[in-house]
Amino acid sequence: MVSKYTLALVLVIVLVHTLPTFQLSAIPTQPREEHILMFKPSDTNAIIEVDGIIKAVWDAGFKIMSLILQNHLRTVVPFGGTYPAGCRLCYATDSVTIYNNNTITIFAPVDESFSDDENWKVLEYQFVTARVDKEGFDSGSVQRGVELLTCDSYCKVLVNGYGSINNVNITHWNIYNDGHIIVHGVQNFFNCNFWKSSKNI
Ligand SMILES: *[C@@H]1O[C@H](CO)[C@@H](O)[C@H](O)[C@H]1NC(C)=O
Ligand SMILES: *[C@@H]1O[C@H](CO)[C@@H](O)[C@H](O)[C@H]1NC(C)=O
Repeated sequence: MVSKYTLALVLVIVLVHTLPTFQLSAIPTQPREEHILMFKPSDTNAIIEVDGIIKAVWDAGFKIMSLILQNHLRTVVPFGGTYPAGCRLCYATDSVTIYNNNTITIFAPVDESFSDDENWKVLEYQFVTARVDKEGFDSGSVQRGVELLTCDSYCKVLVNGYGSINNVNITHWNIYNDGHIIVHGVQNFFNCNFWKSSKNI
């Protein structure tokens, strides 16, 4: 049996190998206008400990994504690393701040989808700035044709069926859900070209 340590080491090597994919992606230095309007710091905020999220994601078998979230969750969530004034917990533990009662839904790709470092794979594109859950699909508020804003500055994702976005299926629902951050597991990365071609961009 491979020890947990060895496994973690292998994953870190894989991670370091795949990291340039994300660094090359358009990580916004400045949040886009919609993001600023939605997420700008205010008195309404939820402070969420990162540990609970990365543990749930790791335990569900999405180990690479768990390691990535450990380092990048706070930077991808708009204003996620901006702590409310006077927040002690924020500095005592690793935490991410979600302002204005928003919800971010993260779509974690399976470990296998990291094996080829194709440059269209963008971490920010896996973060939808809205609540996407089974209830939404059941009620029809999330249905075929609905476009969702992501943390990538240039692309939205397109719902194309029940539990399916950009032709990628959700395979693991609610790996984590505290109302402000939701994580589902998906078969692969979302490809921005899917949305662009639907718009003829
Ligand atoms: C936050 O959003 C939830 C669900 O969308 C809602 O039930 C709740 O009342 C909201 N809280 C505040 C403080 O607006
Ligand atoms: C996604 O789910 C749909 C419906 O459940 C299924 O028809 C389709 O084959 C699945 N796609 C993949 C790539 O597995």
